[in-house]
Amino acid sequence: MMDRRNMIEALRWQVEAGAAEAVGEAPADRFAESAPPAPSMSPAPAPATPEAVAAPTPSETSTPHPPRAPSQTSPRAPFTGSGTTAHELAAAANTVEELHQALERFDGCALKLTATNLVFCDGNPEARLLMIGEAPGAEEDRQGKPFVGPAGKLLDRMLASIGLDRGSVLISNTIYWRPPGNRNPAPDEVAACLPFVERLVEIVDPAVLVLVGGIATKTLLATNDGIMKLHGRWFTFETPRMSRPVPTMPIYHPAFLLRSPGQKRAAWRDLIEIRRRLAESA
Ligand code: URA
Repeated sequence: MMDRRNMIEALRWQVEAGAAEAVGEAPADRFAESAPPAPSMSPAPAPATPEAVAAPTPSETSTPHPPRAPSQTSPRAPFTGSGTTAHELAAAANTVEELHQALERFDGCALKLTATNLVFCDGNPEARLLMIGEAPGAEEDRQGKPFVGPAGKLLDRMLASIGLDRGSVLISNTIYWRPPGNRNPAPDEVAACLPFVERLVEIVDPAVLVLVGGIATKTLLATNDGIMKLHGRWFTFETPRMSRPVPTMPIYHPAFLLRSPGQKRAAWRDLIEIRRRLAESA
């Protein structure tokens, strides 16, 4: 019998792996369903659907994805406290530094009240590769820099494996202040930060955008599909102010890889594909 802590860990693992929606009341063992039926008089179970058992293959990587609707269409336009909307504040910034200053003035995300520091970007604002992660953790909150804790160390090693480092990429997040206790960001917190995330992509205008983990992927691709299904595939990201769609790939979050090292092989394949795309567009 699992104790409560193990059950929560198991649930957390599933959510990180992309199983973020409940589709039935009882768990289903898909492997048992697709195994040859044991001799029995009872009817054979229905075969598992391909989606239930098949991991995405590299050949699926060109699957197009409809461009996401820009956040201007979202029902909620967070205010800054001074009457200016987040969209207006973000839109007025024309450099990464101006966007940083705009965020310093922005009071429309309640997480700012509990966080120690604003955590915006690290790396090279001129980079051809922009990576968007999830939200700052404890170490990021302390230092005011994204990806400087254990997951960040692994991200650095992942980048090094394709010849990149923080001098050649720009790293940021979907959320700019640490959610207390590292809980998942709430939808209104994501909505509050989104105009700034979109403006960052517009300003940096990267050759390739990489979405690190399920939350960045769901937010910027406006999808409910999980990272398990979407990682390693090419999509596009575009806003009305951009002159062209940016090739965009979701990858596994390094925090997930620390918990599930068996997925590192797939993560490495995705990185190789990113390197190929960067070289191709040089
Ligand atoms: N995880 C993230 O997604 N971002 C960070 O900055 C740190 C950990």
